[in-house]
Amino acid sequence: MSTAISPTAYNYKVVRQFAIMTVVWGILGMGLGVFIASQLVWPELNLGLEWTTFGRLRPLHTNLVIFAFGGCALFATSYYVVQRTCQTRLISDILASFTFWGWQAVIVGALITLPLGYTTTKEYAELEWPLAILLAIVWVVYGIVFFGTITKRKTKHIYVGNWFYGAFIIVTAMLHIVNHASLPVTFFKSYSAYAGATDAMIQWWYGHNAVGFFLTTGFLGMMYYFVPKQAERPIYSYRLSIVHFWALITLYIWAGPHHLHYTALPDWAQSLGMAMSIILLAPSWGGMINGMMTLSGAWHKLRTDPILRFLVVSLAFYGMSTFEGPMMAIKTVNSLSHYTDWTIGHVHAGALGWVAMISIGALYHMIPRLYGQKAMFSTSLINTHFWLATIGTVLYIASMWVNGITQGLMWRAINDDGTLTYSFVEALQASHPGFIVRAIGGAFFASGMLFMAYNVFRTVRASNPVEAEAATKIAVVGAH
Ligand code: HEM
Ligand code: HEM
Repeated sequence: MSTAISPTAYNYKVVRQFAIMTVVWGILGMGLGVFIASQLVWPELNLGLEWTTFGRLRPLHTNLVIFAFGGCALFATSYYVVQRTCQTRLISDILASFTFWGWQAVIVGALITLPLGYTTTKEYAELEWPLAILLAIVWVVYGIVFFGTITKRKTKHIYVGNWFYGAFIIVTAMLHIVNHASLPVTFFKSYSAYAGATDAMIQWWYGHNAVGFFLTTGFLGMMYYFVPKQAERPIYSYRLSIVHFWALITLYIWAGPHHLHYTALPDWAQSLGMAMSIILLAPSWGGMINGMMTLSGAWHKLRTDPILRFLVVSLAFYGMSTFEGPMMAIKTVNSLSHYTDWTIGHVHAGALGWVAMISIGALYHMIPRLYGQKAMFSTSLINTHFWLATIGTVLYIASMWVNGITQGLMWRAINDDGTLTYSFVEALQASHPGFIVRAIGGAFFASGMLFMAYNVFRTVRASNPVEAEAATKIAVVGAH
């Protein structure tokens, strides 16, 4: 098949900007993760200052890793994928650039306001109303750029990766706007429009779907493009990907109440959340299997290609965390796991093993192509990064399983006379070794990001403006 070069070009500038910032925010967010993990080992690291206490830095960590690191990875890859699969340039350079600068402004706003203690107190939705409004505007513009580009596509059908990105964009807007409805009383303080159990329900409808659509659906969009590309195989089953899509988005939206078991929420709502969470195992594993099976006939590549290894191991962790999640949603299991480090382990099996690993794999695939290079500067550095990330994740989640089950069992142990066998502090002391192992695991993972930064720096430096410009040209015929 011959390949002609069109005079028009992709907008790679915005993709490059988001890609580089993914690495920068990844280092900061994970570095902060290691710091707060260390605070749980050595409380002196709270430094006696209100701005540096665990309580203020923890939400900064979650905002930096989810919205700054994860968000930039999603922006970068979705802009890359939508252009390449639609064989057209983004509809507007100005609007795309606005999303980049607007998103960075929201993150810098978070960096300043969260340590100062300005917060709505709603988890993953802490940013006060001026920043929340800016975020909503950026998001709507993102939707315009993404869907506008799809409407002027040169290809006939819409590749399934774009379906996932599209659902992630629409649902995130809906969640953010509904959950943030509030009454501002000063520039830095607002009160939720909802009260009591309704507020809790709305918050966890938001919280769970932030996981479902921000941390899962968007990254599945990434998976559907980068796994086949890196494996150089077509996706295992296009039909399965469509079933996967509709089943996933239909079910996820109902599962939120599993965060509110044994609370004031009506019992039927809790049971519904539990049932939907268990059913959710099926589409989640359907997606994982679709990704894994794409490697049929290409498994040997894993021996030499650490990028593919990142992508495949991320799918394995996705499968693991989406098995664990439905189990934890069962009320009797949740009565043990809730409030314990088991939840934290589950979170990071998804966050490090799935979200971060698939993003890292996608970036290693994309960065040389964005800068007109054949490959990353060093494959052995990617390999080192892979092992640091994998070992780090395993240390993190294994230590949290041990801690979680220990805590759950110690808290519920009761003497014959009905008194508690252990005080809270005794359970905390028993958790100390696990905290140390988690901090070490986190340090492994975060140090891998430093290897990545160096590798990216050398790859970008090796590129010259002519090569970088040539990389943006649209190949009219041939595979995307
Ligand atoms: C089928 C898929 C999944 C189900 C049914 C599920 C279910 C659960 C359950 C039952 C909890 C504990 C709630 C509690 O006791 O408070 C939980 C917590 C959590 N899960 Fe999952 N999970 C799934 C997949 C994932 C994935 C893939 C990720 C990450 C990428 C993830 C991220 C989280 C987070 C961040 C929390 C903590 C929320 C909080 O309390 O702050 N989950 N999940
Ligand atoms: C070097 C890597 C990381 C380390 C050392 C780390 C460490 C931590 C620590 C210590 C906590 C607080 C746990 C607690 O309150 O007991 C936490 C919470 C959290 N982290 Fe990380 N983290 C890392 C990477 C990430 C990444 C990449 C993500 C997401 C993409 C993430 C998402 C979260 C979330 C959602 C929570 C809140 C969990 C909950 O409330 O249940 N973390 N992290």
